[in-house]
Amino acid sequence: MARSALVTGGSRGIGLAIARELAAGGDDVAVTYRSGEPPEGLLGVHCDITDTAQVDAAFTRVEEEQGPVEVLVANAGITKDQLMLLMSEDDFTSVLDTNLTGTFRVVKRAVRGMLRRRRGGRIVLISSVVGLMGSGGQVNYAASKAGLVGFGRSLARELGSRGITVNIVAPGFIETDMTAALPEERAAEIKKNVPLGRFGSTGEIAAAVRFLTGENAGYITGAVIPVDGGLGMGH
Ligand SMILES: NC(=O)c1ccc[n+]([C@@H]2O[C@H](COP(=O)([O-])OP(=O)(O)OC[C@H]3O[C@@H](n4cnc5c(N)ncnc54)[C@H](OP(=O)(O)O)[C@@H]3O)[C@@H](O)[C@H]2O)c1
Repeated sequence: MARSALVTGGSRGIGLAIARELAAGGDDVAVTYRSGEPPEGLLGVHCDITDTAQVDAAFTRVEEEQGPVEVLVANAGITKDQLMLLMSEDDFTSVLDTNLTGTFRVVKRAVRGMLRRRRGGRIVLISSVVGLMGSGGQVNYAASKAGLVGFGRSLARELGSRGITVNIVAPGFIETDMTAALPEERAAEIKKNVPLGRFGSTGEIAAAVRFLTGENAGYITGAVIPVDGGLGMGH
């Protein structure tokens, strides 16, 4: 039977690839989008995850259209890179508010429905290799992505007895708008440090997410799965 899945930030990049992969696996898939048009063939719900009322409204719409969310992928995220001494407090808190607190808002709303349904659920949080290794110029982003690991593992403990798994995917450098913004020399330098010698594709992240939300991953929770070409060596 088709499950009701929701991917935040699913109108482009990694989120869109995840949404398409879950749909290919037979799930009914909704995506949140903020700007532009929602992707064809998926249920698009307008939502800014920094606003609790918008998150609530988006879930209500998804519940009406395809039933309570059984599979949640918290993918929406932003960067605002700057060296720490030059970083404004707003650049720090706004990245935390989207990447970490935004995930809290979305996951909290999803879990309510999962508990009410009493049939378990799957939650995947999209972190980053940078959260585990650190990265100069990204104290805000790295803190938010490291925070997702503690958040996800704590939640995995809270929800395990209810049959809800919570896992974290930590992508390395993936070809999307986010990495297209990197200067060419910086991209070349990064590739030198990736054992597999290239950036990853969005499909490679989507495949890991599909596995974690699938039947074969029923005994995996609280895990951090790196999909990074070896950059983080398993961390
Ligand atoms: N690309 C990489 O190399 C890489 C590596 C590690 C981790 N990641 C993580 O993977 C996730 C997806 O990255 P990506 O490269 O696909 O990024 P992207 O192309 O920049 O897309 C980001 C997505 O997040 C959405 N979003 C941002 N702020 C939001 C908000 N306040 N409310 C709702 N949606 C919001 C965007 O919506 P709009 O289209 O409306 O702006 C967009 O759909 C992010 O969490 C990122 O940190 C990416």
